[in-house]
Amino acid sequence: MSNKTLRIGFVGAGCVNFGRWNVSWDHASRLERLGGFQVIAIVDPDTDKAEQVLKTRQTSQHGGFYKDCVVLADIADLIRMHPDAVFIGVPPVARGSLQQNKDLELQCVKAGIHVFMEKPMSVLPLVKFQPYAAAIQKAIEEAKVVLSVGYMFRYHAAVMKMKELMKQHGGKVMSFNARYYYAYTEMTNIYWYNAELSGGPIVEQATHFCDLARYIVGDVDLATVHTLMLDSDDRSGAGHIAHVPLGAEDGIPPRKKIPRVTVSHWRFADGGLGCLTHSIALPGVRYEANIDVQLDGLKLSLIEPYQDSCILRVRNMEKGRRDEDRDFTFEGSDSYSTELKTFMEAVRTNDQSVIKSSYADAVKTYELTWAIRLSGEQNFRA
Ligand SMILES: NC(=O)c1ccc[n+]([C@@H]2O[C@H](COP(=O)([O-])OP(=O)(O)OC[C@H]3O[C@@H](n4cnc5c(N)ncnc54)[C@H](O)[C@@H]3O)[C@@H](O)[C@H]2O)c1
Repeated sequence: MSNKTLRIGFVGAGCVNFGRWNVSWDHASRLERLGGFQVIAIVDPDTDKAEQVLKTRQTSQHGGFYKDCVVLADIADLIRMHPDAVFIGVPPVARGSLQQNKDLELQCVKAGIHVFMEKPMSVLPLVKFQPYAAAIQKAIEEAKVVLSVGYMFRYHAAVMKMKELMKQHGGKVMSFNARYYYAYTEMTNIYWYNAELSGGPIVEQATHFCDLARYIVGDVDLATVHTLMLDSDDRSGAGHIAHVPLGAEDGIPPRKKIPRVTVSHWRFADGGLGCLTHSIALPGVRYEANIDVQLDGLKLSLIEPYQDSCILRVRNMEKGRRDEDRDFTFEGSDSYSTELKTFMEAVRTNDQSVIKSSYADAVKTYELTWAIRLSGEQNFRA
């Protein structure tokens, strides 16, 4: 494999690329641990913010990765510098569209630049998004570039173990049940509270669990998706939340506020049933996420995949232990790092086949999240 130093650019100087409040779980920090690259530019229309980010990086122990890095306001200027790869981490309302200046991924792919892009794909409804997706797909085939979408749980050691155990079992999934509870009272991105900017909680956040449903079980029969939502202005008052931080909902009319609870269910193309619950109610900053998958005589519970203390709890047909749980733990395993390492290797070898989340596949997850959202909006209870 080539060990060429890759020339990379970051698009977006925000949280996912560079962290926040000195929390170093971001892509730049993980790449710095991997090495093998030079950052040639950071692009952000908020150039003051990007300059600050660059200064912090240059004066850190990893400053060598940024020694010739410049700040740019427009992705077109980065493309003219011919980077090997770009990392696109900007809000979905600013990309994923044929609209001028929002075709960030398309500009890069057309220029033959490898792309790592964050989820979700866009905020556009499917009918408006599909021409963009088709243009990207065509450009990927023509330019033969690697593109990876940031569904990092596909690289999670526990998810890999689940797939291994399911393969050994050999049977069909009977049920998939995901629960994702957002902790909302402290840390937040303001735009996230406005569905027009974020796509809403399923398109933007629970998309990771919709993606895992598809990755673990398979495609969903979208015609079977049925959703109920508890809206902010539900006449019962049950949708009222009193601790939204930073005035994030000020000025947003009640009908445009994001739903507080979303419960959706569906049938997989393979026959099994799926279910997702998302809520905005927990205090603090610690989200809760759990998934149960059941096959005949096998239950796999993925407990808190965001945490280092994640557990995969397994109950199976082992003689004498059929009423017992067996726990697998994965301390030190970091799905974001594995995802980025895989991308960098794929770029060096120009090998899309090692990428677990391609553009075409992620489009299907986007379709599922919109099917969930639209069904909930149709079943709106005034
Ligand atoms: N995979 C994950 O776990 C994960 C985690 C966090 C965020 N994300 C995703 O990453 C994306 C960005 O989220 P964030 O939390 O970093 O947002 P953020 O608001 O912290 O930062 C986004 C930055 O993008 C900049 N920006 C806007 N338009 C731009 C453009 N045209 N060109 C360059 N920069 C532009 C903004 O000025 C801002 O600085 C979102 O799609 C989000 O869903 C994924």
